[in-house]
Amino acid sequence: MSISCVPKYAAILALSALGVGAVDTFIDAVYEHAVKLPNRTETPVPREEALLLMHKNIDVLEKAVKLAARQGAHIVVTPEDGIYGWVFTRETLYPYLEAIPEPGVNWIPCTEPQRFGYTPEQERLSCLAKDNSIYVVANIGDKKPCNASDPQCPPDGRYQYNTDVVFDSEGRLVARYHKYNLFAPEIQFDFPKDSEFVTFDTPFGKFGIFTCFDIFSRDPAVMLVEEFQLTAFSTPRPGTTRSPSSRLSPSTPRGPEPESTCLLQIPTTLACT
Ligand SMILES: *[C@@H]1O[C@H](CO)[C@@H](O)[C@H](O)[C@H]1NC(C)=O
Ligand SMILES: *[C@@H]1O[C@H](CO)[C@@H](O)[C@H](O)[C@H]1NC(C)=O
Repeated sequence: MSISCVPKYAAILALSALGVGAVDTFIDAVYEHAVKLPNRTETPVPREEALLLMHKNIDVLEKAVKLAARQGAHIVVTPEDGIYGWVFTRETLYPYLEAIPEPGVNWIPCTEPQRFGYTPEQERLSCLAKDNSIYVVANIGDKKPCNASDPQCPPDGRYQYNTDVVFDSEGRLVARYHKYNLFAPEIQFDFPKDSEFVTFDTPFGKFGIFTCFDIFSRDPAVMLVEEFQLTAFSTPRPGTTRSPSSRLSPSTPRGPEPESTCLLQIPTTLACT
């Protein structure tokens, strides 16, 4: 198995076949691109401008998803912050957020786009999955209103979560994960109250999901891989892509770049993307 760092700002589509214990082999695709970043600003941009930028990034992802699907991939994993970047304050991130419902609602945004308000990013990602019959893992921002009945509610009356979403090959939202271990500069987001073990079933196996810096914590990354014995997908920060079949032991020394080390416990595998 090779482990290779890829240059930042390269567009990369890596395909690999993973055999997951008793489960059938599946092909996953990991995509990385030079994210189109918003301009630095102290003032939130209008929602329309935020949508424009996110659609440009999804346009890039769309080409990769199509290519992955054509090459027989079952699932494609796209990067953390891959749709709007990371140059934000709490306020300037707000126009980029969408309310993401709990997956138990059984929702295909592509066919029911208005069911949970105005959610154009979820609609596009769902259609990408559906139209190409492929699972799509993406990272977007969730917003959840709160009020004084919750003593931890931020003064602006909302929680903002760094969120992974998974759409199945019919476009259905099947997983939502709020990143638990935020990296220090992620001031634009709130820490979720509890860590969640988010998993999803597919015809090619059961998976767990977590995000980038989560990989250094027991909760939920190590728990998912070691105790739940799952294959887990980690959405990475752009520039930290690794071969999805990288195989490192948990005791591998940590390098100076935390996001670029990945963790794996055989026989389970971790697609550290
Ligand atoms: C950034 O600012 C420039 C100059 O004002 C503008 O042309 C461009 O569209 C802006 N980019 C984004 C992503 O908003
Ligand atoms: C805010 O508080 C009211 C009760 O005063 C409650 O009914 C409502 O559900 C709360 N909203 C949120 C988003 O927590």
